[in-house]
Amino acid sequence: MKSIQDFSFEGEGRGLQNRLAQMFDPESGRTVMLAVDHGYFQGVPKGLEDIRKTVEPLLPYCDALSPTIGGLRTLDPWSRVPIILRATGGNSLERREELDDEIVTVSIDEVVSANAIGFTASVYVGLPRQRQTMENLVSLINEASTYGLIAIGITAVGDKLKGLFKSEKGKQLQYIRDASRILAENGAHLIKTYYCDGFEEVVESCLAPIVIAGGTLRPTKEALEFTSDAIQAGAVGVDMGRNIFQSENPVAMIQAVRAIVHDGYTPASAHDLYQELSKRKAEKR
Ligand code: R5P
Repeated sequence: MKSIQDFSFEGEGRGLQNRLAQMFDPESGRTVMLAVDHGYFQGVPKGLEDIRKTVEPLLPYCDALSPTIGGLRTLDPWSRVPIILRATGGNSLERREELDDEIVTVSIDEVVSANAIGFTASVYVGLPRQRQTMENLVSLINEASTYGLIAIGITAVGDKLKGLFKSEKGKQLQYIRDASRILAENGAHLIKTYYCDGFEEVVESCLAPIVIAGGTLRPTKEALEFTSDAIQAGAVGVDMGRNIFQSENPVAMIQAVRAIVHDGYTPASAHDLYQELSKRKAEKR
């Protein structure tokens, strides 16, 4: 297992290190980020119809929150949970073949003005707009370096690459490993990517710490299993959305995820916790 302390940010200055300290648990050195930025290309995702209603009960269990600028405006500004703002977009599911056609949608001035501690930018390695999306990330990083903001690079995958994963065994690991390293080499402080078999290799060859996204909703047990596998393999946390907010019991689910990330629970014991918390909630009704 790894923690943020296994990575050196000494050359980065005090501001960036302090912002990392805000989103990483001092004991475990890992983080549970809640991703609620899906509307930027999905429109109205299930579970995020009313972002504030979804997010508020989950906030006590978040180490950081990842919304869009529009989503953030609906939330209580008095919340103390650190914000990581999505800074790229411009695409939508209406034109799936152009999912990689992203631009910078949020300026560094807006990130600073929102008092966010950092931003995310998607890079579509291997897709036609690879260069454009890499330019989005690096231009934001360069501008943000004055302020010590945390840059999270997302290894985004369009439909074209999803097909490739299904057809060629081992291709997924190779892709995630190389895409993660490319984003780290280009200056991302943290990498957000997807878990895959052989994830230790991704962690070992990436220069930066990794948090995993959860992807589409899976059965609770399965989601807890891949979360645990990722942490065991060396991920320093999660930036998870649908497997939490689309869960039958989001508050129980985020606590089960925390138990794995911070407290070393096995998937089975985290699942027991999920069931116990769900049962208690049902009894209260
Ligand atoms: C999607 O494009 C966003 O970056 C999401 O924040 C990311 O995929 C994490 O959410 P989920 O766990 O639902 O995949």
